[in-house]
Amino acid sequence: MVRGVGAYLPERRMTNAELATLVDTSDEWIVQRTGITQRFIAAPEETTSVLATRAAMAALSTANMTAADIDLVIVATSTPDYTFPATATQVQAALGIHHGVAFDLQAVCSGFVFAIATAEKFLSSGSHRRALVIGAETFSRLLDWTDRTTCVLFGDGAGAVVLEAEDGGSAFEMGGIVSTHLRSDGRHREKLYVDGGPSATKSVGHLRMEGREVFRHAVGMVDGVVRDAFALANITAADLDWFVPHQANRRIIDSSAVRLGIDAGKVVTTVQIHANTSAASIPLALSVACADGRIKKNDLVLLEAMGGGFTWGSALIRW
Ligand code: UT7
Repeated sequence: MVRGVGAYLPERRMTNAELATLVDTSDEWIVQRTGITQRFIAAPEETTSVLATRAAMAALSTANMTAADIDLVIVATSTPDYTFPATATQVQAALGIHHGVAFDLQAVCSGFVFAIATAEKFLSSGSHRRALVIGAETFSRLLDWTDRTTCVLFGDGAGAVVLEAEDGGSAFEMGGIVSTHLRSDGRHREKLYVDGGPSATKSVGHLRMEGREVFRHAVGMVDGVVRDAFALANITAADLDWFVPHQANRRIIDSSAVRLGIDAGKVVTTVQIHANTSAASIPLALSVACADGRIKKNDLVLLEAMGGGFTWGSALIRW
């Protein structure tokens, strides 16, 4: 059962106009190709664990819980504070949690969906009761700020949800994670990757992407895992209340919704204000749609994401 949702964005907002002073681009190009108008950039002292901790505190507050109630912390991130220890353990310490377990999960832009699926398996097995599932990123630290084909697309932020195990009952009827479908295919590495890492280069590296190729694959992959979710629950697009996709590009989101027959009025889109925040994008979008009253208790909500690896997946949730 989803008990709470929260988010945190850095104070510093960077508009397309400001980006156009750094690289040869324009507000018009960025808006037309992606829908993005602005992004948030973390201050130097705002590491991923700092953003994640603030999002977690916001989620705990909406759940009316304290950190002591949590026995599982999963942080989905591709921009950890350090190579090790896991960012999740830093979040756990910052929240004052000294019991249970905390670990990171790395599936790039699909990280939050993978983390929801992982948490659900821990909770449904009975081994843990209450989970903080966090997507947190400082992608600004990975960008090559001279490469206009990538630096205009990404931003920083964090979002979190609190999940609680339910004793008995169907998630579809009573609330909770109805199904998750995860996929990956490592043959696509070079289409979206970071050209550094401790073992290969002993450096952090920069994000590299063949945007058009990623775009081409994204729509079909999303289609597959969403149709899997529909088939397992024996529902159609008409049964959904909200579709909350990974926020990479407005054109990808719109064409996925059209192909899947999802009414445009049910699509939550925040890419225009957050840009692509990788694993943070879905919980950031959830937080906006819960705070403004769109997503309500008992709503049927479908999440989907696709990212580097490639990785992709869907999660169907009865709110
Ligand atoms: O989150 C993980 C998943 N990632 C994604 O889903 C990203 C998927 N890909 C995309 O969103 C899009 O492919 C992009 C937004 C990255 C690019 O849009 P596009 O319509 O595929 O453009 P393009 O790459 O085909 O580039 C078109 C033109 C090129 O110029 P020429 O070769 O036609 O002369 C680029 O050099 O636009 C040029 N261009 C730019 N112009 C102004 C590329 N970046 C920029 C820029 N400003 N920032």
